[in-house]
Amino acid sequence: MDEEKPLKRLSRPLSRIGRMKAFLSYIGPSRATFGFLEPGRLVDGDLELVLWETGEADPGKGFVPGYAFHMIRAGEPYTVMGRISLRVGSTEHVEKYAGHIGYSVEPAYRGRRLAARSCRLLLPLASAHGLNPLWITCNPENGPSRRTCEILGATLVEVVPIPRTDPLYASDTQWKCRYRIDL
Ligand SMILES: CC(C)(COP(=O)(O)OP(=O)(O)OC[C@H]1O[C@@H](n2cnc3c(N)ncnc32)[C@H](O)[C@@H]1OP(=O)(O)O)[C@@H](O)C(=O)NCCC(=O)NCCS
Repeated sequence: MDEEKPLKRLSRPLSRIGRMKAFLSYIGPSRATFGFLEPGRLVDGDLELVLWETGEADPGKGFVPGYAFHMIRAGEPYTVMGRISLRVGSTEHVEKYAGHIGYSVEPAYRGRRLAARSCRLLLPLASAHGLNPLWITCNPENGPSRRTCEILGATLVEVVPIPRTDPLYASDTQWKCRYRIDL
């Protein structure tokens, strides 16, 4: 997955303000509404995901709504070990090149499968938004990310060239591996 769009920054992580409901609405040209959902507590052992930012859709720019989470150590002082985002939309850009989920782990915290574990924690939220299948993309030479997809049980469907018309064209790669997860 790739980081590709600005997100609206919350003043504090939602978990620290009483797990208030994050409900931001976007009314698009079709009058369709989108509502962010309360993800609940997302914990796997020593890993917790804390909702940090949400980003509203911007059809003009091709942006879909998104959540961004910090990976922190559960029950310990707030230390960001990594980041993971969920893009709630199924545009061609998302499904073929950017992916629904994007992640990164700080070098000091790698080696614990934090990305795969974080993806698993987000699957119910993705499902609640009706995302099925879920696509994760990565650069062909990105061994750790490809292995992360394998750990998740995702299926490598194809390796596709990024078209000139896509915002990711001329980024660090011209190809994307497309991994599919059926929820
Ligand atoms: C991809 C990334 C998030 C994975 O972080 P992580 O969850 O800490 O991953 P780990 O270090 O636990 O490695 C995951 C798996 O990849 C394997 N791996 C690590 N380096 C590898 C390599 N060069 N080639 C193949 N597999 C590799 C690990 O052995 C592990 O598999 P295992 O548990 O079966 O042994 C992290 O490497 C990263 O932040 N990279 C930079 C940002 C990035 O590329 N994001 C993804 C964009 S698509």
